[in-house]
Amino acid sequence: MQRERTVEHAGELVVQADPVALAQEAAERFVRYAEEAVTRLGRFTAALSGGSTPTRLYSLLAAEPYCSRLPWQKTHVFWGDERAVPPTHLNSNFHTAHTTLLSHVPVPADQIHRMQAERADLDVAARDYEAEIARAFAPLPSDEPPAFDLILLGLGADGHTASLFPYTHALQETTRWVTPNYVPTLRTHRLTLTPPILNRAETILFLVSGSDKAVALQAILQGPTDPERLPAQLIRPVTGRLVWLVDKAAASRLNERTL
Ligand code: 6PG
Repeated sequence: MQRERTVEHAGELVVQADPVALAQEAAERFVRYAEEAVTRLGRFTAALSGGSTPTRLYSLLAAEPYCSRLPWQKTHVFWGDERAVPPTHLNSNFHTAHTTLLSHVPVPADQIHRMQAERADLDVAARDYEAEIARAFAPLPSDEPPAFDLILLGLGADGHTASLFPYTHALQETTRWVTPNYVPTLRTHRLTLTPPILNRAETILFLVSGSDKAVALQAILQGPTDPERLPAQLIRPVTGRLVWLVDKAAASRLNERTL
């Protein structure tokens, strides 16, 4: 079952029956966006999201029929955010993507751009990651942030996305592409891409699954604009497309009439 709607100012809403269908639709789109990018630019740049929702997608992409449809040699992999843990840690977004996807596919090692959020000085780590992004996208036409071909994003039940958490410092960032962000509710530090670079993407694909996200999703898409409380509302691509790929459980509180 797939229902597509255009949600006023918030992009395209695509509802899938369950997490399996969600992952399959995400895999089809991932391949399509990659093919589009390689045709247009000769390369595909993708920023992966963390958390558990995308793991089913990552496993699909690591296997047939999707694996051989993807241009791995022309693909550059980045992350939208990372936890302040080593890359071998179970909570590491790199670790999740490496075990479910990257260790199974032939992406050249120098095209896997890991966020080094385990470093003691996260401000330097953020600046170094920004420099790595700039090198990968060189030559940059201007000092505008580069446009990722695809950015995968998840949604927290509190309305956060990437590591842009409610009422945190990173929400105010208007120039840096990458910034450290302390999250008081988790008592932890993160590294995260910022709205200025996120919103330059060609395609932003939210993957949202489960009834625990239903209240936040309804508030973000249909409630008043309040990005401090609901940081995912900061995600509005300047020229790119925004797709909310959600399952029925996550969409269960959406008001059909105002979609
Ligand atoms: C992270 C993610 C974060 C995640 C949401 C949803 O590092 O935690 O980037 O933004 O996407 O918290 O996580 P789940 O998919 O596990 O619900």
